Amino acid sequence: MRLSKRLKAITEFVDKEDRIIDIGCDHALLDIYIKENIKNRKIVASDIHEGAIKQAKKNIEKYSMERKISLRLGDGLDVIKEGEVDTIIIAGMGYNNIEKILSNSEKLKDINKIIVQSNTDVVKLRKSVIKLGFKITREKLVLDKDIIYTIIEFKRGVEKYNYNQIYFGPRLMENKDELFKDYYSKKLLKYENLLLQLPKNNVMSRIHHMRLIKIIKEELEKDN
Ligand SMILES: C[S@@+](CC[C@H](N)C(=O)[O-])C[C@H]1O[C@@H](n2cnc3c(N)ncnc32)[C@H](O)[C@@H]1O
Repeated sequence: MRLSKRLKAITEFVDKEDRIIDIGCDHALLDIYIKENIKNRKIVASDIHEGAIKQAKKNIEKYSMERKISLRLGDGLDVIKEGEVDTIIIAGMGYNNIEKILSNSEKLKDINKIIVQSNTDVVKLRKSVIKLGFKITREKLVLDKDIIYTIIEFKRGVEKYNYNQIYFGPRLMENKDELFKDYYSKKLLKYENLLLQLPKNNVMSRIHHMRLIKIIKEELEKDN
């Protein structure tokens, strides 16, 4: 089976011993691929929409995975029993929804690892998952159909991060690839243009943009 580049990159974060819930599985192709290729211990594929569950069921049957993937209809972590899984995958949703799902503290206490790809506000996401008692262990940028996605792996633990690490991603900063440079060069251009358009009396917003421009420039220049 062929997965999109984004979903394929997510599978690189999965280990054989992980007991996973994929929240918002939609078509469940990610879960079928993981079970076929990584053969990890357990996967619960879940979604809040019946239509998605129906599609997932069809795909699971097509690949004869009925006994290997547990499919469940429901909201976020509500569908799992205590101690049933230790790893969460959440991909393709916005930050607000992800934050709401992870705020289920009763169910989150069994979780040791979170693999997440948010479509929005990656910086806010880093901040809020760290506050839940996790540290950032791996990160990857992936280019899929002209969009650059950030995939982050969090594990239980404490690590202190400065402003730049939260902004750029501590693991991405350690190993800046061409995608990183491309991504932030474009952001730099965007913020410089925005700053030109901001009215002089919008002081707070101007300061914010100037700060971002400064740190991006510094980070990109470090490697030249
Ligand atoms: C855009 S799709 C992403 C599908 C897949 N994870 C991916 O990355 O390609 C988002 C899915 O999340 C589901 N979803 C949204 N909120 C949810 C929640 N609170 N609990 C479970 N599923 C949810 C939606 O029904 C939808 O199928």
